[in-house]
Amino acid sequence: MTSESRQPVESLTPEDARAEHARLSDELRAHNTAYYQDDAPVISDADYDALFIHLQAIEDAFPELRTEDSPTQKVGTAPSQGFAKVQHAVPMLSLGNAFDDEDVGEFLTRIRRFLSIADDDTVEIVGEPKIDGLSVSLRYENGAFVRGATRGDGAEGEDITANLRTIKDIPDQLKGDAPEVIEVRGEVYLPKSAFRQLNEAQEAAGAKIFANPRNAAAGSLRQLDTAITAQRPLRMFAYAWGELSADVADSQWGFLETIADWGFQTNPIARLCHSLEDVLRLYRDIGDQRATLDYDIDGVVYKVNRIDLQRRLGFVSRAPRWAIAHKFPAEQATTILNGIDIQVGRTGSLTPVARLEPVTVGGVVVSNATLHNEDEIARKDVRVGDTVVIQRAGDVIPQVVHAITEKRPKDAVAYVFSTTCPVCGSEAVRDIDEAVRRCTGGLICSAQSVQRLKHFVSRNAFDIEGLGARNITAFHADGLIVGPTDIFRLHEKRDVLLKREGWGEQSVDNLLDAINERRTIELDRFIYALGIRQIGQATARLLARTYGSIEAWRAAMAQAQDRDGEAYQDLLNIDGIGVSVAEDLLAFVHEDHNRQVLDDLGSQLEIEDFVQPDNDSAFAGKTIVFTGTLEKMTRSEAKARAESLGAKVSGSVSSKTDLVVAGPGAGSKAKKATELGIEMIDENAWIARSES
Ligand code: IVH
Repeated sequence: MTSESRQPVESLTPEDARAEHARLSDELRAHNTAYYQDDAPVISDADYDALFIHLQAIEDAFPELRTEDSPTQKVGTAPSQGFAKVQHAVPMLSLGNAFDDEDVGEFLTRIRRFLSIADDDTVEIVGEPKIDGLSVSLRYENGAFVRGATRGDGAEGEDITANLRTIKDIPDQLKGDAPEVIEVRGEVYLPKSAFRQLNEAQEAAGAKIFANPRNAAAGSLRQLDTAITAQRPLRMFAYAWGELSADVADSQWGFLETIADWGFQTNPIARLCHSLEDVLRLYRDIGDQRATLDYDIDGVVYKVNRIDLQRRLGFVSRAPRWAIAHKFPAEQATTILNGIDIQVGRTGSLTPVARLEPVTVGGVVVSNATLHNEDEIARKDVRVGDTVVIQRAGDVIPQVVHAITEKRPKDAVAYVFSTTCPVCGSEAVRDIDEAVRRCTGGLICSAQSVQRLKHFVSRNAFDIEGLGARNITAFHADGLIVGPTDIFRLHEKRDVLLKREGWGEQSVDNLLDAINERRTIELDRFIYALGIRQIGQATARLLARTYGSIEAWRAAMAQAQDRDGEAYQDLLNIDGIGVSVAEDLLAFVHEDHNRQVLDDLGSQLEIEDFVQPDNDSAFAGKTIVFTGTLEKMTRSEAKARAESLGAKVSGSVSSKTDLVVAGPGAGSKAKKATELGIEMIDENAWIARSES
């Protein structure tokens, strides 16, 4: 849908891919915050989805980029302040997207292939409208509503029980026999009619006007004053479950029927489908009804009906394999391109951003859009002053689709992409085949150092309370913090801090205390904080797990500079680290100034050795190799199951392998395992052990 406006993933070099990945990730994170925390998205759902799938496509082609901190691996964003936090016992996940019939066909094919189901066997699918509201999780104990929470980042949400109690579709007490513990999940929404009335009232009162029903629902649900929530006629459709003390049904359809009996509202236009044709017919039917429904929907969700099959299919990090959201197409609008600004990223990448005359697209005011990179501007010949078509899809970032040349002002000139960095003035260069132009300023480029510092203190890195993006920028501008070590020397500048506007004894000491608290850090967080290209959380953890201590890691990296040596091979043998990642890592530690930073930080900090996390599973941390034919499950299913138990799955047998699961026809790998004395079991033993 939007791919024609981007460089195709197949033609990306690893360098391009990495740059594009970094840029898209930043963009998506900003949009996540705008959407989930501020309830003020700046781009359309369709555009967000376009960015999101582009990021996924890049990760499919360059799997080393799929780090744990990638937006593709996360749901939403961390909860905002103000409500108590609730840990979701069963994470609240998101859904993968399908944008056309072909994507839906592939979804069904994937399921058949994964489960090894023949083409002529029916796989029942439940199709439900995708409600554009806020997902919530409602906990019932012995039939009584005890706690309700928002999704938050999927792992931790906000306790909004009091507000949820004001919603008439949420029963206080379940009718009939419910298990002792059950979490019912669904979508809270504000009917369109109520939204219009609310905005009229808000306008009359000179209060905030909401952009769309979803934002109004979010704003209403996040009221600290329950009395306000109670005045907003919020509703809810229930469609899923979280923690359960006993099974409720053996199918999604049965589940919906059961919870309707308990007193929940389930969506009346959901259907049980038996074929791809059925599913697509439902999509069109629901699309036709969309305008007449009193609630916003943004697509249709398809779910495998049988729960035993859902369990076998499981999840791929962020989303279930057994469900997908078939989105309605993007919404477009035309507006004027007032200017093009260039943003400089952590790794020096220059990204053009379109500044637009604000325009409403699909209910959201848009004033910025992405132009991706230099080539894209050239290819589309987008000029400042042009009337442009912009498009918004998914939950977040709009993009410029094309310029309407008939409306071009006579004096509009072709855009010339700067060959110098707009921040430090250094030359900005493009490597051959690179889509991205990069500032060569390195350490002297304040934009890059600021971005790097922001990363260093960010939530998954040092996470220093009170030292967020804003203070980092200000302290950097005033020379208080130039590099990461300065953070841990800030106490020497207490007097200077005290003289700053808005800072008093209390706030300065709180900040210094918060910094002190972080002088002890886990090895994986530390490595991640360094902001080395391509080293996201997951890779940092792999490194920490492999090398164990900062000393061992640094020694190994020094030895690995010899590309013919054993240390280099060991690095490449880590499942998840390829040549490109290894090269970035080694380039980082090869630089004198980076080693200096590592020495300095080492003297300021206590970097803890990696501790293998407690995990009940006997497979946690083990490396497993599957070989030969598996008869009871497909390779993908076996791999997914092993990974969900905390194991790593490797394609080849080496001294690092812990277990080999060998089916009939196992050849050289089984032989090697025997030679190396590695434990080998058959498929039945594997199933028995992995189920126990
Ligand atoms: S099922 C594990 N069903 O869409 C799958 N989600 O993009 C759980 N949504 O987080 C989700 N209508 O907020 C499901 N009928 C429906 C839905 C629905 C809306 C939302 C929900 C979810 C998001 C995923």
